[in-house]
Amino acid sequence: MENILKIAAQKGMRKPDVSQRTISDMKPVFKNQDVPKSDSVYYTVYRNLEIVGGKIRYDITVIPQKIVGEEFTKTFGHYHAKANPELYEVLDGRAAFLLQKYKTDPSEISEAYIIEASAGDKVVMPPGFGHLSVNIGKEDLALANWIGTGAYDYDLMKNFHGGCYYVLLARQSPGDGGAGADIKFEKNPNYRAVPELKKLKPKDAPGLGIKNGKDDPVLDLKNEPKKLEWLSNYEKYANLLTIENLYQEI
Ligand SMILES: [Fe+2]
Repeated sequence: MENILKIAAQKGMRKPDVSQRTISDMKPVFKNQDVPKSDSVYYTVYRNLEIVGGKIRYDITVIPQKIVGEEFTKTFGHYHAKANPELYEVLDGRAAFLLQKYKTDPSEISEAYIIEASAGDKVVMPPGFGHLSVNIGKEDLALANWIGTGAYDYDLMKNFHGGCYYVLLARQSPGDGGAGADIKFEKNPNYRAVPELKKLKPKDAPGLGIKNGKDDPVLDLKNEPKKLEWLSNYEKYANLLTIENLYQEI
C-alpha cells in the first residue's frame, strides 16, 4: 500500500480513497463457504487517483498472491448498474479476467469469457458484462482501470456465491515433481445455467484508442481526454464495444 501511495504522490496524482476487503468480507463469493473468519486484508483498491472531466476516474487495485481454499485471489466481482464499460490495464503480475453476461435472468448466464493478461495488456469490459479479476501469477497483481461514474451491483455475484466460474489451483500429480501449479476453471453450480467458457486474448482497438504493450500505459490517456469519451458516451461506440472487436478467441 505504501508503494502505490508513494508512486501516486511522485506522479502528482490525487490522494486516493483507499478501501480494503478482508477474507471475511469475501466469504459470500468464495467457493468454499467454510473459510474461517479473518480480518486479514485480501485486496486493496485505490480510487480516484485521477479524475478526468469530473466523471471518468483512474483507480488501481492490488490483489496479493494468496490461495484461499483452492481459489486464486480474486476481486468480489460486480455488474455496473448503468451497464457502462470499463478499461483495465495490467500493471504488474498475471491476471485472469472473468466476464459474464445474462439476457433476462441473472441465474442464467448466456456468455462467459476468460481473458488471461500480463503487464501492458488492456482489457475492456464491454457494456452489460459482470466481471471479476483473479491473480493467477506468483506475485502481487496490480491493475489500473478507467471508468465513468455509476453505481456497482455486487448483489448478483453475492447471491450466486461468486462469478459463474471459479478459478482454482490444480496441483499437478506428484509424478511430475509436485512443484508445478496449474489453473482449472470450475462451473459455479449456484447458477441455473452456465455456458462453456471461451478463452480470449486482447486485440488493439484503434477506434477506442487502445493499444496493448507496456509502451502505451492507459494512464497517459489523462492527457487525451477525447480517447476516454467512450467510457461515458458508450452508446455511441456500441459497434466497437463488442467481444469480436476487442478480443480474439484462442
Ligand atoms: Fe467494474
